[in-house]
Amino acid sequence: MKQYLKCIRCGRVYPLHDTRFRCDCGGLLEVRYSHFPGPSIVDTWEKRTGSREPLDQSGVWRYREFLIRSSNPVTYPEGRTNLYKLGVDGFENLYVKHEGENPTGSFKDRGMTVGITHAKDLGMKAVACASTGNTSASMAAYAARAGIKAFVFLPSGRIAAGKLAQAVAYGATIFEVMGDFDDAMNMVVKVSKELGIYLLNSLNPVRLEGQKTIVIDTLHQLDWEIPDWIILPGGNLGNTSAFGKALMELKEAGIITKVPRLATIQALGAAPFFRSFVNGFKTFQPVKAETVATAIRIGNPVNFEKAKAGIQFTKGIVEAVTDREILDAKRILDRSGIGCEPASAASLAGVLKLYKMGVIKGYERIVLILTGNLLKDPEIVPKVHDVRSIRVSSRFEDIRGILKEVIP
Ligand code: F0G
Repeated sequence: MKQYLKCIRCGRVYPLHDTRFRCDCGGLLEVRYSHFPGPSIVDTWEKRTGSREPLDQSGVWRYREFLIRSSNPVTYPEGRTNLYKLGVDGFENLYVKHEGENPTGSFKDRGMTVGITHAKDLGMKAVACASTGNTSASMAAYAARAGIKAFVFLPSGRIAAGKLAQAVAYGATIFEVMGDFDDAMNMVVKVSKELGIYLLNSLNPVRLEGQKTIVIDTLHQLDWEIPDWIILPGGNLGNTSAFGKALMELKEAGIITKVPRLATIQALGAAPFFRSFVNGFKTFQPVKAETVATAIRIGNPVNFEKAKAGIQFTKGIVEAVTDREILDAKRILDRSGIGCEPASAASLAGVLKLYKMGVIKGYERIVLILTGNLLKDPEIVPKVHDVRSIRVSSRFEDIRGILKEVIP
């Protein structure tokens, strides 16, 4: 079983242990495998769900036939996230895959378990990333587990409180870059190349392999009844790329025959992918990004080329929603008892918009990906919900009197 890196632009091949992320021609690299198992592998995957082995329990390594090989993965285990049915007027089959249930509260753990494992296998002593918050939290945690030094580059003052707290607590060295995420990203690419630090942004093709399992795991949970749509937020476009690749590989292996359509949803103030999609992907213009959903406040997504391939392969679409639509959708998700951070709510906001436009029908089977946990961004809560508490004395009679009025 051969594994190697291949340029998606010119097809040039590099060994898997090469730490480059771009080909000499400038194209992005992706991981390729010489062979996938046939459809009967799904029975093995099903058996592993009942196993006590950490690698089988991991919702990432359980699907290791579609990942790089390692003799000693760094795993929590992660990826044991639930698929919920969500009741929203007009929709019969709306599901929510809550990636905020991962160990550090976001989908990044799926990529990071593979990325940090590879860093360790390569003998790397230090890892780095630029981040809008979740990548840094996840990388710091996995680096701590693996005993590797972590450096994170964050856009100054634009990180949600929960995420920054995690990076600090897990012991990463933090650089606050006076600029936005795109500036931090440019910086970390140069720094890591020059100083031999292993880069763990989604520019890293090995990390993206782990994120493929969001799709594999979801289809497994649906008993391989393929949905019509998978809807996800888009920022740096790592997930859009990974989802497209997962679907291409599952199809190639004969595990699926039908392919769900991907719909990537961007925040209108940070929507270069959407703008490119609208003009048939003929041009791509980076933008100066601004949105309340800080996780996807990205103006120059590094994975544009791969994400484009993912949308084209699945006959997918790209849409953009306003900050108001994002926060309204977050309110619905929060009040359903599921909850999420603002960027994640872009998926529901997108579905509601596409439904109104008649693109998505209420009878279709739809999976929304919630990328991050509600606790990541506590400061946004008063902007979404009325924060009303009732001040009371500690006298039982006072409280009883108030309760009598308000209990239904
Ligand atoms: N949702 C959340 C909660 C995120 O943290 C991110 C990206 C995205 C969506 C977008 O995913 O980049 O694959 O399109 N966060 C990165 C970070 C950029 O640094 O944590 P994408």
